[in-house]
Amino acid sequence: MENRSIAIDGPAGAGKSTLARALAKEMGYLYVDTGAIYRTVALRCKQVGADPSDPEQVAPLLEGLDLRMAYGEDGVQHMYLSGEDVSEDIRHHEISGMASQVAALPQVRAFLLDFQRRQARDHDVVMDGRDIGTVVLPQAGLKVFLTASPETRARRRCLELEMRGQKAEFFDILHDIQQRDYQDAHREVAPLRQAEDAVPLDTTHLDQKQSLEALVELAKGRFSL
Ligand code: DC
Repeated sequence: MENRSIAIDGPAGAGKSTLARALAKEMGYLYVDTGAIYRTVALRCKQVGADPSDPEQVAPLLEGLDLRMAYGEDGVQHMYLSGEDVSEDIRHHEISGMASQVAALPQVRAFLLDFQRRQARDHDVVMDGRDIGTVVLPQAGLKVFLTASPETRARRRCLELEMRGQKAEFFDILHDIQQRDYQDAHREVAPLRQAEDAVPLDTTHLDQKQSLEALVELAKGRFSL
């Protein structure tokens, strides 16, 4: 059977989540934000004071981790940790850096692999992350590698944080983005890289509407819709 799942990978702030969500809506698919899952593990580390870069401190947390993903009536993905809705808490700036650190641990990636694949078992999904096309859904029917210049991504991230009422200094965000890019692309397990069969899409000079149009066109062309 043809695999109609869509994998969208790329660095932080390339517009993945906004675009993947909009594409899913357009296609009638389920949107799965895998970064939120790593963020939830990072939040658990913060709650118990574990160093997110230390496998000896993080690995024991995984066994007892009560992690759940559910969709609200509005179709929005919510993350639950120990029964509590942490969807907002995981968006804090501090958690972004910690998520990148836990995401570098092989134990964490192995633990979350099945969790992510399960989401795509019963639904057509648009799934976004760093290794969806290369590791999580290598059979995805369409893979897109979304990029934009670091400055553009930092500007978008600032706006996003400001909209959430959080403080955002452009140069701090730019520095963090560059550091995270490096960390995500140079880790040993499942580093951020473009799958060989992924279509690259650079959104530096595209606004949201144009980027979405490009994605929808790719999806419709690929699935002959
Ligand atoms: O997309 P995001 O910023 O919410 O992701 C948070 C961190 O999680 C990011 O630094 C990289 C990591 N991540 C990953 O390694 N693999 C994924 N599939 C998704 C996110």
